[in-house]
Order: sequence, then C-alpha cells, then structure tokens
Amino acid sequence: MIYWHRIIKNKGDLYMIKGISQVGHVGIAVANIDKSLEFYRDVVGLKLTGLWGKPYRKNRQCFVRIDNMHHNIVFFEIDDSVDRSTLDISDTAKRQKPGLHHIAFEIPEREDWLIAMEDVKAKGIPFVSGPYVHGHETDYYEADDNGMGFVGGSGSHAFYICDPDGNRLEFYCWMMKVTQKSIAAPNPDF
Ligand SMILES: [Fe+2]
Repeated sequence: MIYWHRIIKNKGDLYMIKGISQVGHVGIAVANIDKSLEFYRDVVGLKLTGLWGKPYRKNRQCFVRIDNMHHNIVFFEIDDSVDRSTLDISDTAKRQKPGLHHIAFEIPEREDWLIAMEDVKAKGIPFVSGPYVHGHETDYYEADDNGMGFVGGSGSHAFYICDPDGNRLEFYCWMMKVTQKSIAAPNPDF
C-alpha cells in the first residue's frame, strides 16, 4: 500500500513533476482486440502501428495512432483465461466504478466535427450523449450528468459514443483556453 498523502505534501512541493506538455497516450484493457481495432480504424479513423502477440507478448496488444506519433492508444487484450461473458461492457460514464470515464478526441474545426457526427450517424453508431454545447450558452439550466448548460463547461461542442468495451468516447471542437479567471474557470492554477 502506498500512502500518497505522505509523499505528495503540497502544490509547489519539491516532489511535483514539471514540464508535462500533454496527455500523450492512453492504455486500455479490451475483451477482443480485433473488434477494438475494427472500431477504432473504421469508425474513429485511427491508424494501426503494430499488432503484437506471441512470442513477443503473452496477451495480444496493439498500438494505434492519430498521425505520426507511434501511438496515442495502446490496447491490451485481457488474458484468455478470463471469462469474457462476465466482463462489464456497459457505458464507462455510468458504471460508478473508479477508473476511466471517457476519452476525448479533439477535432479543431467545427466543419470537420459536423462531418464526423454525420459519419457516425450514417454508420448507425448510437450517440450515448449529445451533441450539445458544454456551457451555459446552452438553453438548459438544470443539473444533469451530461454537462449540458453547466456554467463550468468549456464551451466545446461535443457528442459521445461507446467503443465495443463500453469505453465512452467524446468528439469535440472549440474548447476554450484558460488564461484568466472566469465563470467557467473559477479556480485556475497558473
Ligand atoms: Fe470530456
């Protein structure tokens, strides 16, 4: 057991990591790597870098990428000995378990974001949430679990789908920047 409260004392502490530029990649455990690969290639449009199995890896794993970085996501297939029928593949945003809630892909141009939305619709993939604007610009002011109308939202336009394992994926454009305190950034560290 690691007692983090003893290690990480305060913000600005000697032990704080500095110099991170972005979240570089995400590793996901998947039930069936072929299904995942098909989904992430055909629906999300990612590119395969390498699929590995025996003798290099005990369980299959594959790297996929957006552009030319070796990988942005790496999939790890769950060990064959695990009963796949018992795996929870419900929407991660609703599982109420610690861990992944969603992975978000930025599409900088709204034009491309709209086309992506139409592509997803045309493939018959259901939206699990959205499309909508994350912010109080949206004409909806009650609390909910979607972020609609929430004053703390980033102003991004977003829609959500789930991958074959229930991992919720977000596709968004136009997230605001934080350079000063504002209604959507009430407690910004700088
Ligand atoms: Fe998000």
